[in-house]
Amino acid sequence: MVKTKIAVFVSGGGTNLQALIDAQTAGRLPSGEIVLVLSSAPDAYALERAKQAGIPRVVVARKAYATQSEFEAEICRHLKQNGIELIVLAGFMTILSAAFTRQYEKRIINVHPSLIPSFCGKGFYGLRVHEAALQYGVKVTGATVHYVNEVPDGGQILLQKAVLVEEGDTPERLQRRVMEQAEWILLPQAAELVSRQLAEGKGETE
Ligand code: GAR
Repeated sequence: MVKTKIAVFVSGGGTNLQALIDAQTAGRLPSGEIVLVLSSAPDAYALERAKQAGIPRVVVARKAYATQSEFEAEICRHLKQNGIELIVLAGFMTILSAAFTRQYEKRIINVHPSLIPSFCGKGFYGLRVHEAALQYGVKVTGATVHYVNEVPDGGQILLQKAVLVEEGDTPERLQRRVMEQAEWILLPQAAELVSRQLAEGKGETE
């Protein structure tokens, strides 16, 4: 079966990208292949991880473009050039417009560090999500992988996993536990699931 070509979009440390790379190396992403890493930040450590893994990488920074549509046109150019069929948002901190997400319907997935619909949507990203969860006093949080549509964190849920909040948790400690116990497990699983669906779909039409 022809593998689904994956682009991973990043903005920061890239631990979720690393989980995807490790899954690929270990044979846990048999239906997909990471062929491009696209970063919205030139100094993202995720770019170093891509380099170490020998994966082509590109920086497309929002502030380098006058408008969202010029920014997205440049992203699309890279996606087309590389024949990308699936986009995995792994800590990508720039919101994509409806015009963009519609072009890739059911072909963009995102990992979010809470149990959607809690602590999600505009303004909830990275450490802020865990700060909000601790502030609210929830005893259980977790991570969600979902399809991406025009509503921030509003697309159909693919996978979720719960993680317990512990006494004395700081946002940083909770973030780490959610990553270890949920995100790094769920994201490669979801990437394989959707890659397989897309690869099988290709088989039917060819
Ligand atoms: C992860 O916790 C991811 O779930 C979150 O940012 C972190 C990126 O870490 N994403 C969001 O909050 C998106 N709304 P990483 O760069 O080490 O993978």
